[in-house]
Amino acid sequence: MVRKSFYITTPIYYPSDKLHIGHAYTTVAADTIARYKRLKGFDTRFLTGSDEHGQKIQRTAKERGMEPKEYVDRIVAGFKELWKALEVSYDDFIRTTEDRHKEVVQEIFVNLYEQGDIYKSEYEGWYCTPCETFWTERQAEGKVCPDCGRPVELVKEESYFFKMSKYADRLLKHIEDNPAFIQPVSRRNEMVNFIKQGLEDLCVSRTTFDWGIKVPFDSKHVIYVWIDALTNYYSALTGGQPDNSLVNKYWPADVHLMAKDIVRFHTIIWPIILMASGIELPKKVVAHGWLLLEGGKMSKSKGNVIDPLVLIDKYGVNAIRYYLLRELPFGADGYYSEEALVQRINSDLANDLGNLVSRSVAMVEKYFAGAVQSPDEYDDIDRDLIKTAGAVVEEYEQLMETYELSNALVAVWRFISRANKYIDETFPWLLAKDENKRARLGTVLYNLMESIRVITIMVAPFMPTLPPRIWEQTGLKNAADDVKTWESLQEWGRFPSGAAVSKGAALFPRIDVEKVLSEEAESTAVLKQEAGEQEAGEQEADKQEEYVSFEDFAKIDLRLAEVLRAERVEKTDKLLKLEVALGDRQRTIVAGIAKHYSPEELIGKKILIVANLKPAKLRGILSEGMILAASEGDSLGIVTVDPDKEIPSGSKAK
Ligand code: MSP
Repeated sequence: MVRKSFYITTPIYYPSDKLHIGHAYTTVAADTIARYKRLKGFDTRFLTGSDEHGQKIQRTAKERGMEPKEYVDRIVAGFKELWKALEVSYDDFIRTTEDRHKEVVQEIFVNLYEQGDIYKSEYEGWYCTPCETFWTERQAEGKVCPDCGRPVELVKEESYFFKMSKYADRLLKHIEDNPAFIQPVSRRNEMVNFIKQGLEDLCVSRTTFDWGIKVPFDSKHVIYVWIDALTNYYSALTGGQPDNSLVNKYWPADVHLMAKDIVRFHTIIWPIILMASGIELPKKVVAHGWLLLEGGKMSKSKGNVIDPLVLIDKYGVNAIRYYLLRELPFGADGYYSEEALVQRINSDLANDLGNLVSRSVAMVEKYFAGAVQSPDEYDDIDRDLIKTAGAVVEEYEQLMETYELSNALVAVWRFISRANKYIDETFPWLLAKDENKRARLGTVLYNLMESIRVITIMVAPFMPTLPPRIWEQTGLKNAADDVKTWESLQEWGRFPSGAAVSKGAALFPRIDVEKVLSEEAESTAVLKQEAGEQEAGEQEADKQEEYVSFEDFAKIDLRLAEVLRAERVEKTDKLLKLEVALGDRQRTIVAGIAKHYSPEELIGKKILIVANLKPAKLRGILSEGMILAASEGDSLGIVTVDPDKEIPSGSKAK
């Protein structure tokens, strides 16, 4: 049987400098999609690369006393190191300085010229060198680049032009006939409006610099950036190939993935180049949002770029990948903060996923000497767990197919919470006390191991080095591959009983948030100073005192907790020690409410707590949260939720 193919690409990045976490985001997202498609059995090809020509690179290299090629070689080696550290499984890396690429770009250019779609004329326009973009008089109002705000220069030169206008109607029809071509729909609408305003012919050659691919029949011209860059997606399949097998298998591309900044080039210029050349158009262009920092867009000149290698070193590749892909909802912008990253590691990875694995494995070790039992009869609680697994797998698949990676993770975490709750509902520690309940205990633990198997397969595309560690602990390291496949998710119960678990190190050790915050504050101060922004930063801080942003509010993890036990703390008349349930987890909280409540009247109450307050020791007891109360003078009342509503403990308050 011929396997279905899938071809996905990232933008080819400029090697003008090191890449930052924003570039890492796109590449990791593409890698996750590629891994998911491979998991589903697709013959997948994943392309990334570098866009190495242009005036900016030529200038930068000169400033550093290097030849352009020597300069880009170094930077591109850094790209490859970063992709390795991020576990990016590209199948091909294309550099626009390679012969295989140049030959295809020249061929396309010559063909377009010969058929009259490229013609020679004179260009006058406002040029932004850092962005390598020409602007019209109107666009470059105030003689600054509308994109980056830097000064533009008036340039007049002989150039070749590409007749974009000739293809505008055909392109519009294509976009209208293929609603999925540009995603998300907001970008599609933007592009349609843009085309409807009329397309100008595009300047496609330059004579003011020579670091580029030469126009074969007019060697004082180099082919200007977008025809060169965009063609990479096609040249990677055709250039220097012994036959047509790659292009036959993988073209048209299934997805070009990128951020919204370059959608216009990919949905207007690129399709027109292809149409005019008689080549099929890619199936989809998908644009995600920006990963922003508090001060706005990341940029080297602002001194606010985040180096992904530093983060990988500190937190590990799986945590970084998870954070990036969880944080940015599909198509929308999101803010990067190290604090939010640590919160995700502590709550989603350490608490939810890590604890599920460690608790389950520990119980199999303790109650069955490490051997996973065969399941006995299932009861209603089991059936509910199994039903949730099935629903989540289905939802995950749908969301992955539409590249809604963050929502796919939300779905998986719904199942992780369900599995954690299953432990609390089935009370394995009580079953273990009753000899007659051995079979039931075996079934409960089997279902947990099976849940972990299902979860591991779904998180694998996101966190590629995690599964081997989980398989090791759950005893599936040497199990047949068919219990780790996509197909095996379609049926509950593929975990091979008899597997021998073995508890290992915590998958995600908890991180001290306070420590990270003080380190982050220090390094931000240094960065700000370097960029001469200290003063602005202080003013900003003053302004922010009056309001908290929604992001700041969202950092406080308010949860509904149920009081399980309460007692007075010895030798004080103010403090009560409470044991509360937060869904499947339990916490100890020491609260100064003993003068207002007796321990008995608190038991069973559902209260609101700040769940992510830094733990503190009070009278030698570690208090892991704070309860919310309102007080005036001598009266104090704790905050509770509407008792008429059935809201489970652990629910988030907002
Ligand atoms: N060389 C061109 C692309 C040519 S593709 C035929 C280019 N290069 S770039 O180095 O500037 O990369 C731009 C891309 O990097 C964005 O489209 C996006 O994929 C990624 N990102 C760069 N910064 C980013 C964020 N802050 N947030 C999200 N994506 C980011 O443009």
